[in-house]
Amino acid sequence: MPSSQDAVATPKAGQPIALITGASTGIGYELALLLARDGYRLVLVSRDPARLEAAAVSLRREVPGAVVETRTADLADPEETHAACAFAAGLAPDILINNAGFGGYGPFARSSVAEEQAMIATNITALTLLAKAVLPAMLERGSGRMLNVGSTASFAPGPFSAVYAATKAYVLSLSEALSEETRGSGVTVTALCPGPTHTRFADRASIGGTRAFNGPIADARSVAAEGYAALMAGKPVVVTGLVNKLLIFGARLLPRTLVARISRRELTPPSGS
Ligand SMILES: NC(=O)c1ccc[n+]([C@@H]2O[C@H](COP(=O)([O-])OP(=O)(O)OC[C@H]3O[C@@H](n4cnc5c(N)ncnc54)[C@H](OP(=O)(O)O)[C@@H]3O)[C@@H](O)[C@H]2O)c1
Repeated sequence: MPSSQDAVATPKAGQPIALITGASTGIGYELALLLARDGYRLVLVSRDPARLEAAAVSLRREVPGAVVETRTADLADPEETHAACAFAAGLAPDILINNAGFGGYGPFARSSVAEEQAMIATNITALTLLAKAVLPAMLERGSGRMLNVGSTASFAPGPFSAVYAATKAYVLSLSEALSEETRGSGVTVTALCPGPTHTRFADRASIGGTRAFNGPIADARSVAAEGYAALMAGKPVVVTGLVNKLLIFGARLLPRTLVARISRRELTPPSGS
């Protein structure tokens, strides 16, 4: 797991540390920017070294004096995840943002097993192991915050994106459980659940042609701002955007079979059945 130390600014004594996975682009980058503005020393983790370095350069430019360190890790890879967890445990960050993740699209019977194993490893296994790596030190200190990025897909089955939706249901369930386990300890755990958002996500998941991504789409900056406010307030769950909040409220009241039907419609092309 190679690393590049910020060449310009060095950490100040006592400077709080935030570890952010998937910070090279999209929602993770915007969360990193908010943390930099609030004076956190940033440690960014993601796969692609060039995108990661570009993000670090951009953050240092947007926030002069920001302390930004990068570490490449493919969180779909068990050994690299193990190394990232050992690093995270040693770092003992004040904030962990478990944001790295990706989706997929297509009928379950024909979708790629390798892709779905990588998705489960990244969205579920790495997120869980990183949470486990940092929580003991947070609890011992009696302070710390964790943000796990779920989705509106956390609340509904996802026909044609079945494995992705299932991974995000896991993220919500784990986060809600940890939020309750840590209640009163000084440590908070928050699940951030965005709806469709303009990032590289839709292209990577090949999901851009669906109804869900052909309606109103949020921007990563506003999603991150809502998530950041909830993180700092220690809220257990935040669904971003008014329309998504209303949809999720409705989904909680309707029978699951009906929710799955509506979800199926959203996950087919506007011209599809
Ligand atoms: N955009 C949406 O519509 C939407 C909606 C709901 C939830 N979300 C969730 O929001 C989170 C952030 O996604 P985004 O929308 O900001 O998409 P994005 O722009 O594609 O960013 C994803 C980030 O995760 C990193 N990542 C992906 N796979 C990784 C792996 N195996 N190991 C390490 N890092 C990995 C990427 O790094 P590399 O560039 O190095 O691959 C990138 O930094 C994800 O968990 C996603 O599921 C997104």
